Amino acid sequence: MGLPPVERASDYLSLARARLDDATWRYLMDGDGSGNEQALADVRLMPRPLSAVAGGHTRLRLFGQELAHPFVLAPVAYQRLFHADGELATAMAAAAQGGQQVISSLASMSIEAIVQAAAAGGGAAPWFQLYWQRDRPRTLRLLRRAMDAGCSAIVFTVDAPVKLATMRLPADIHAVNLEAPTHADLPAEGGSLVLDGWMGQAPTWDDLAWLRQQTTLPLLIKGVLHPDDAVRALDLGCDGVIVSNHGGRVLEGAALSLAALPHVVERVAGRAPVLFDSGVRSGRDALVALAHGASAVLLGRPYVWGLASHGALGVAHVIRLMRDELEMTMALTGCATLADIDVSRLA
Ligand code: FNR
Repeated sequence: MGLPPVERASDYLSLARARLDDATWRYLMDGDGSGNEQALADVRLMPRPLSAVAGGHTRLRLFGQELAHPFVLAPVAYQRLFHADGELATAMAAAAQGGQQVISSLASMSIEAIVQAAAAGGGAAPWFQLYWQRDRPRTLRLLRRAMDAGCSAIVFTVDAPVKLATMRLPADIHAVNLEAPTHADLPAEGGSLVLDGWMGQAPTWDDLAWLRQQTTLPLLIKGVLHPDDAVRALDLGCDGVIVSNHGGRVLEGAALSLAALPHVVERVAGRAPVLFDSGVRSGRDALVALAHGASAVLLGRPYVWGLASHGALGVAHVIRLMRDELEMTMALTGCATLADIDVSRLA
């Protein structure tokens, strides 16, 4: 199957819609993603003609890794829902495009196989997204498995300890890397499902301090919107912050990711890279986030659209189109490299 005749990364949305059943589509598009998208779209850019941008590039160095572009594929659960090749297709595409990806704790294929697929494609070792696994021993086992598999950074997601209704998974698709739930996962009778059940098992700042001691890999915290939380994570030894509202999927009415970004960047004050996600639908959107101080952006739904419609080829094409769009926007705003992208490019 060749590439579809699309001009923009976002054109993959309608291709994916045509391929997925209603329940899977609802799961993918769940939450209020439109506020994030609108916030990015509302920012106007300042054309800067006559700049010498020939010979420019989109390369960057992040946590010691050389990346061809600033698009990191965000952790997305259960990717076999969207395509039979699932996470392997995503890994091959990220590697082929010289970028980075984050394996979800809820991946539907084994961590080891995904890492191997990235290596076979000549890519850097993927990052691993860690969800807290009820207690420290269980969390440590999952962390060690990711480290042993060769993952090169840990992304600790802290904004979604409470899982609201999600879709009923087909019998053959599940989180294959997690241990089976036990009766301890359920609240005692008469207890609150939220406060005693889910939140009784959610991590706290003490757990983050503990986690920092368990690995020497770069540790990023994902799902931070308040500047105080970003600074606290760095004070505990984290190496990076991902400003994200989880694509609007967790807390209804949460602060928009872009609104939070400049405040976090200001308080982090260059101590560590600040990454951004939620709502990036084009290379232009990525430039807006970078102009607000992000070092790189994560893509969520857009690459899954590519996955659903054309497997690895579709994911690779989405990344390539995003990069083309970013290069075009850089050229028109007078930026030869990512380092040139700053607020002076905004109107
Ligand atoms: C996610 N996201 C997510 N995040 C995470 O840390 N672990 C996970 O397992 C998942 N799973 C997941 C599934 C699906 C279907 C979606 C759409 C999202 C959140 C994801 O990493 C990212 O933060 C958002 O998707 C970014 O927003 P956009 O780009 O989708 O708007």
